[in-house]
Amino acid sequence: MYILGIETSCDETGIAVYDSRFWEANQPAHLGLLGQSLFSQVKMHEIYGGVVPELASRDHIRLSLPLIDDCLSKSGLTISQIDAIAYTKGPGLAGALLVGTSIAKSMAFALSKKIIGIHHLEGHLLSPLLSPDLKTSSTKDLFPFLALLVSGGHTQLMLVKDIGDYTILGETLDDAAGEAFDKTAKLLGLSYPGGPAVSQLACLGIQGKFVLPRPLLHSKNLDFSFAGLKTAVLTQTKIKTKDGSAMDDQFKADLSLAFVEAVVEVLSKKVRDAISISGCKTLVVAGGVGANTQLRARLLALGQETQTQVLYPPLDLCTDNGAMIAFAGALKLLKTPSLAESTLAFDVNPRWPLDQITN
Ligand code: KG4
Ligand code: ZN
Repeated sequence: MYILGIETSCDETGIAVYDSRFWEANQPAHLGLLGQSLFSQVKMHEIYGGVVPELASRDHIRLSLPLIDDCLSKSGLTISQIDAIAYTKGPGLAGALLVGTSIAKSMAFALSKKIIGIHHLEGHLLSPLLSPDLKTSSTKDLFPFLALLVSGGHTQLMLVKDIGDYTILGETLDDAAGEAFDKTAKLLGLSYPGGPAVSQLACLGIQGKFVLPRPLLHSKNLDFSFAGLKTAVLTQTKIKTKDGSAMDDQFKADLSLAFVEAVVEVLSKKVRDAISISGCKTLVVAGGVGANTQLRARLLALGQETQTQVLYPPLDLCTDNGAMIAFAGALKLLKTPSLAESTLAFDVNPRWPLDQITN
């Protein structure tokens, strides 16, 4: 089965084609990724300091069809060879989701293709299985595994018993980790999106200049809280600038380092607890914050210490992309063919809890 994936939930137009035969034959899953095309709108939104929904929708309209053409030609396929279309149905920006959905449904109707709506986070959750590090023999006995989902809107620890069978073990009570990165970057006057900027600057920081709180570090559950950490960053910037002095580069680097250390310590402590509670031998890390080098290094060390296989998506699949949608669509259609949608109504779900998906 050839699946075309369409991702338009936020500020990336992502298209990809996945060939499901590799997964079915228990071969390395990443070999099934035949082609990818991606356009990031980051430059356009940068001047506003965040995503402008209307501009995002218009840009998805402008680029979706050319990117689909480009991706098909990279994959060496024509549209008639595609068997199914997977599109992001939610959560995300309503207008942006509608663009991908209407294109996917129109193509499915005009070309008589199967179609499936995918939960954006399910795409992130399964994308580490596209890691070239995944051992071939482990593809089928990978489940159950533990997943740390750290994106701009979500921070969740999940038990993945099977494709579509997800239990939330813990989640953030307020801000997501990515959101805390973005807000910290804004407070420090860094560019949008904040995650990469803060983590790069942290590499130049001197340890121990600031001690920031580790919210819920010793709580008995697996929940997170990052709002207080952001407030602590705000307090430090106010102290620094109260007599009119500017935030110099070293101040920003030192505070960035303290912030990253706090986030990484909280995330890795909860992951350690989750490993010991669940007994899982595989951890997958997904979502944009999974691109953070400090977090990657800490979790890899934790994996060695606890003899847990730690899987990350390839770096380009950490942030939003079409490959994770095509891949999730393939896995879901293989497992439950009846999930193919019969209605051609444009039905998006901007606020869709992951534990409410149908299997
Ligand atoms: O998964 P994603 O691309 O979009 C959502 O579905 O939210 O995640 C975006 C988030 C942003 O908050 C961004 O600042 C953060 O991921 N991010 C990072 C890094 N790269 C992206 N955070 C920390 N370090 C990074 N290297
Ligand atoms: Zn995402």
